[in-house]
Amino acid sequence: MDVLTRLQLLREQIRHHENCYYVLAAPEISDEEFDRLLHELEKLESEHPDLVTEDSPTQRVAGRPTASFPTVEHIAPMLSLDNAYNEAELRAFDERVRKGAGLGDAAVDYVAELKIDGLSIALTYQEGRLVRGATRGDGTRGEDVTANVRTIRPIPLALKGGPTGRMEVRGEVFLPRAAFARINKEREDAGEPLFANPRNAAAGTMRNLDPALVAKRQLGAFSYQVVLSGREPPQDMQKHRDALRALAAWGLPVERHHQRCSGIDEVVAFCERWAEGRLALDFDTDGVVIKVDDLALRERLGTTAKFPRWATAFKFPAQQAHTKLRRIEVNVGRTGANTPYAVLEPVFVAGSTISMATLHNADDIARKDLREGDTVVIEKAGDVIPRVVAPILALRPADAVPWVMPTRCRACDSELVRDEDEVVWRCDNSSCPARLRRSLEHFASRSAMNIEGLGESLVEQVIEQGLVRDFADLYHLASAQLENLVVAPRDPKSARAVPRKLGKVGRNVFAEIERSKSNDLSRLVYALGIRHVGEKAAATLSRHLRTMAAILDAPVEALQTIPDVGPVVAASVRSFGHEPRNRAVIDKLAAAGVNMASQQPEVDEGAPGPLAGKTFVLTGTLPTMTREEATAAIEERGGKVAGSVSKKTSYVVAGEEAGSKLEKARALGIPILTEEGFRGLII
Ligand code: IVH
Repeated sequence: MDVLTRLQLLREQIRHHENCYYVLAAPEISDEEFDRLLHELEKLESEHPDLVTEDSPTQRVAGRPTASFPTVEHIAPMLSLDNAYNEAELRAFDERVRKGAGLGDAAVDYVAELKIDGLSIALTYQEGRLVRGATRGDGTRGEDVTANVRTIRPIPLALKGGPTGRMEVRGEVFLPRAAFARINKEREDAGEPLFANPRNAAAGTMRNLDPALVAKRQLGAFSYQVVLSGREPPQDMQKHRDALRALAAWGLPVERHHQRCSGIDEVVAFCERWAEGRLALDFDTDGVVIKVDDLALRERLGTTAKFPRWATAFKFPAQQAHTKLRRIEVNVGRTGANTPYAVLEPVFVAGSTISMATLHNADDIARKDLREGDTVVIEKAGDVIPRVVAPILALRPADAVPWVMPTRCRACDSELVRDEDEVVWRCDNSSCPARLRRSLEHFASRSAMNIEGLGESLVEQVIEQGLVRDFADLYHLASAQLENLVVAPRDPKSARAVPRKLGKVGRNVFAEIERSKSNDLSRLVYALGIRHVGEKAAATLSRHLRTMAAILDAPVEALQTIPDVGPVVAASVRSFGHEPRNRAVIDKLAAAGVNMASQQPEVDEGAPGPLAGKTFVLTGTLPTMTREEATAAIEERGGKVAGSVSKKTSYVVAGEEAGSKLEKARALGIPILTEEGFRGLII
């Protein structure tokens, strides 16, 4: 057998087994046998790099991190769905459909599908090859996340059969519950903030710029729509069920619990069944999508500006439970906000045990008249963070008294204050230990100074032992001090639960602290936790004003001339800069060697830049420039860098070992530059 035939055979076999494993959940061979096929393919491809194709199963994580996602236009708008919250609204939907169709009393055939709680995705296949994956965006334009989509195992890079030409497949990307639990466990261990729910985690993952990280997250996907813009559907695709069957036959994942319902009664029964049944699934669903089965009838019904008239989403009622409100306690946040929360008698709701719930603020508690000792209704809306809905007055103990918000800080006993137009009570003491703890956690967090290992428990230790009283103290910790820190066991119930010294972990944290000294100014500005200054504002401030001193000294008027800096941010930065205590900490940080200047290119406020409107794709290794340097050079001049080659690409910059992107650029006739040629462009 010649190499090419063997390669094709291997790829076909692997695709088949990927489909069995990831889509049908019915593997035909062992993991070992599968790995053997994959290794053989990898080996053969490494011996014949010219024969590697973009849709080869080895090419799922081909891309390196990109700088941003280009925006792309959908071939037809991605609409949203109208909602129905109860049986009456479902029946009203059915009425509208029957009226619009002129069907009188005849029952309409619907297909009921589970509504996957993820994010919608549009996959473009050209001659059966996956060429693009895009998010919904505003419905007309989304973000090109092809490199990330290619890492999602259930999504085939090449279809089995399928129509010729261009086709868009729409569906949902989601994070299975098991993967969600695993990721949050890892984040907890690393002292990182947890994802609130699988949907947020999936959305955050899809927008991550590093496909290798996306691959690790093990996202799932389901498809539910074929869009052949401007073309008639084939003869054998007159019903929605035909489309679902075709999707599955092409190797795409289709959620298997969908059902044909003849008339609205069957739809109602389906919705009732799954309101309970959904808890046993391995993914979150927030409802049922009801769709007219007949595609010609859909055409007749048409759409409004926002929704199709032929479909609606039945939203499951929030999962509620009754339990006892044991106590109302107060948590102190980084900004000094004292926020009340409910300590509940543990109760099982929608798949997990709840023992705490947010109470928002004192006004909210007063409005609901929640009292300690009450039996309360709690709910998980969309399976997110539980909230307390209302007390059950009939069950209120005789001695229950209205709850009163403490007037002093729970952590440091300073008097709480509240701005006129705010509902939040704050502690103004900047050395309040609870505030310090949260501030330090924020300071060290990934998007701030990114000090790995300095999570919740270590922060608590260094504060409790009096080693750190402000951010700058971190930089005076000696390696030995960190190594010798005694920390409590992570799981106090475990058999090996003895307090232990940090040892090597402490040494690593020390190295991380040292490393953070050379962070860009934008990270430090964000890390300081200035109110209203998020990551983006911090980056803007440091890019424009260049040094910490300039930021601290800038008058409000000057701050406000910076794009995207409004009066609230400007006032907050100014008042932060005025405060002698903040100045003192920043002086200490500078003395410890923490970088106080922007390393980002200067902003040219004038012309749009010589490369404005140009899109570049980088591929292969350039002789003297790193990918980051090339990206920065392009962006500084107003150009954009994209992850994949399309007709809209202006130039492909190709280095050594450039692969399929180069081939594609050639095929599309896009100018290809060497590093030298590229340098000519950016002088
Ligand atoms: S059909 C024009 N089917 O729900 C109708 N959508 O609230 C296209 N969704 O944006 C959508 N599961 O992201 C459809 N089985 C399903 C779905 C589903 C989840 C999402 C989809 C849509 C949103 C609307």
